[in-house]
Amino acid sequence: MKTPLLGGLTPTRFLREYWHKKPLLIRNAVPGFAGLLTPAEMQSLARRDDVESRLVQGRGRRWRLDHGPFRAADFKRLPKTHWTLLVQSLNHHLPEADALLRRFDFVPHARLDDLMVSYAAPGGSVGPHFDSYDVFLLQGPGRRRWQIGAQTDLTCLADAPLRILRRFEPETEWVLEAGDMLYLPPQIAHHGVAVDACTTYSIGFRAPTAEELAHAFLMHLQDTVTLDGRYADPGLHPQRHPGEIGRAMLVQIERMIGRIKWDRQTVADFAGLYLSEPKPSVFFDPPETPLTPAAFKRQAGRQGVRLDRRSRLLFIGMRFYINGEALDASPEESAALQRLADTRELPASPDPLPGCLYDWYAAGWLEIAAP
Ligand code: SIN
Ligand code: CO
Repeated sequence: MKTPLLGGLTPTRFLREYWHKKPLLIRNAVPGFAGLLTPAEMQSLARRDDVESRLVQGRGRRWRLDHGPFRAADFKRLPKTHWTLLVQSLNHHLPEADALLRRFDFVPHARLDDLMVSYAAPGGSVGPHFDSYDVFLLQGPGRRRWQIGAQTDLTCLADAPLRILRRFEPETEWVLEAGDMLYLPPQIAHHGVAVDACTTYSIGFRAPTAEELAHAFLMHLQDTVTLDGRYADPGLHPQRHPGEIGRAMLVQIERMIGRIKWDRQTVADFAGLYLSEPKPSVFFDPPETPLTPAAFKRQAGRQGVRLDRRSRLLFIGMRFYINGEALDASPEESAALQRLADTRELPASPDPLPGCLYDWYAAGWLEIAAP
């Protein structure tokens, strides 16, 4: 369906023509967008130690980067211009941020990273740079001038604390106002400077490098591969150099290692576990006095359930992956769990709930919906 969020394009057409290919400016993507939190609320998030935040100050070739948690005094000391406060994973902390992220459901959940918010004083920016992943930059209150370019020289300043392009060659520029949105594919050079104090919401995607995937897959194999047998050499002969690792030994080791096998199922399981793994900064809050299984069943049936905002639930067929754990569901349970994975909630229903939901509730991964 055509949507103002994508400038009147259908998700299919947007994905075909723009996604991962070329930038798109969408005026009034979210009509009447007034932002999701005030600068003061952002500052109090940035003071928490379970929230990832950064403060960037500078311009030109002089930059300073500080990581949160911050103290109130840190903000009082700031100059009037040229600084930006960034708060990561806003969707974990604010229901409205989670709801905003859900509007980008035309991209698979496994590709979604988080919603980041930045507040910039006039002139504030994080410098001209490029990102390695797709991003939607939704403008909140205040105006920001975006300059972009498709330059191939992506060399960065050698001594800056963040990645700043050494030579930025802007080709196009726009001033975005509240509700406007700019989509950028990876590797497009961009520079967003606050015209007046302004807030920008970045819907970011994850795109692991081949090396990250390979390392994680090797760890997965390490945890899952079982091989029997042990090195054996009943036919051993004396060798001229006892210090040498002989050919027969190498051949045997190669054969033993060669017995490590994986198939599509191994890869599927790895992908499910890896992609549903929460970020290292995520900790869940299990209920202090959990309901009994029977009371949970009654109440969840009456009110429905919803995933905790930090939970990642993905599936491949009838195998479900939640927060780095796997579970096989029965055909009867699968439809409900798939719906939970897609929409992150299940409505009230007289039908029996999948049995795993109680465990997820007790782990703090899921909660009973408000009545
Ligand atoms: C910002 O919001 O200031 C930076 C976002 C970006 O350039 O990726
Ligand atoms: Co960027």
